[in-house]
Amino acid sequence: MSSTDLAGKRVVVIGGTSGIGRAIAEHAVASGARVVAASRTADQSSPNPQLAFEQVDLTSTSSIEALFERVGAFDHLVLSAGPGAMGSVRELSSDAARPFMDTKFWGYYDAIRAAAERISADGSMTLVGGGASRKHAPGRPMMAAINAAIEALGKANAIDLAPVRVNVIAPGLVDTPAYAGLPDEIRDGMLAGYAATVPAGRAGLPEDVATAALFLMTNTFVTGTVLDVDGGVQIV
Ligand SMILES: NC(=O)c1ccc[n+]([C@@H]2O[C@H](COP(=O)([O-])OP(=O)(O)OC[C@H]3O[C@@H](n4cnc5c(N)ncnc54)[C@H](OP(=O)(O)O)[C@@H]3O)[C@@H](O)[C@H]2O)c1
Repeated sequence: MSSTDLAGKRVVVIGGTSGIGRAIAEHAVASGARVVAASRTADQSSPNPQLAFEQVDLTSTSSIEALFERVGAFDHLVLSAGPGAMGSVRELSSDAARPFMDTKFWGYYDAIRAAAERISADGSMTLVGGGASRKHAPGRPMMAAINAAIEALGKANAIDLAPVRVNVIAPGLVDTPAYAGLPDEIRDGMLAGYAATVPAGRAGLPEDVATAALFLMTNTFVTGTVLDVDGGVQIV
């Protein structure tokens, strides 16, 4: 039986302090969960007693293990962290590219490993990957490779960690603070260009991904899937 009610559940969102992860944390709180939102800079004051902030660095195995020791038993894990890795192989040396893999792939790997010891058997893991895994564009070989690896990691773990369910969300372009460093005209042009390309006619909002994450946490018949939340970019 499935319900979108998360009352009594504990949810951990790594990358839960900004953008997509923050929206997922807030939607989980609104559905009744107690939520831990973790990132490197988690020293924020919480607007809600059901939402707690914790520090973790996905590039450090010991930091990830310490987070899950502090958290203890919980029900749902969401991984939504990591910078975008732009640059062609001509531009990015392996030394420059490796930190992206360290954060998003090995960080997710270590988090899944540590979480698997403490997550409830009827719980779930949701990995936020990215549609660059299958929608290719210039300057994105690392984004493609990392997100493809995450899709494979999710499916394989849905078998190994069953009955815990493991799913991946592959967002398209979502307007988040990840793009705050861009000049306004570049950022606005990127969002407008995406809106003009995709069938949905707009770029994504963090809430679009958050509602998908809540669906994956609560629908107990969905596991081993990759859910595209992208306005239809994969079909154009
Ligand atoms: N926005 C998009 O268009 C888009 C599209 C496809 C996929 N995605 C994916 O969606 C996920 C979230 O992206 P977003 O757009 O929401 O980005 P965002 O607003 O920049 O949020 C990223 C989050 O990750 C945390 N983080 C970064 N490095 C970390 C580390 N080493 N250890 C722990 N936490 C870390 C950040 O907090 P701290 O800086 O405090 O650590 C922040 O909470 C990413 O995996 C991204 O690749 C985004």
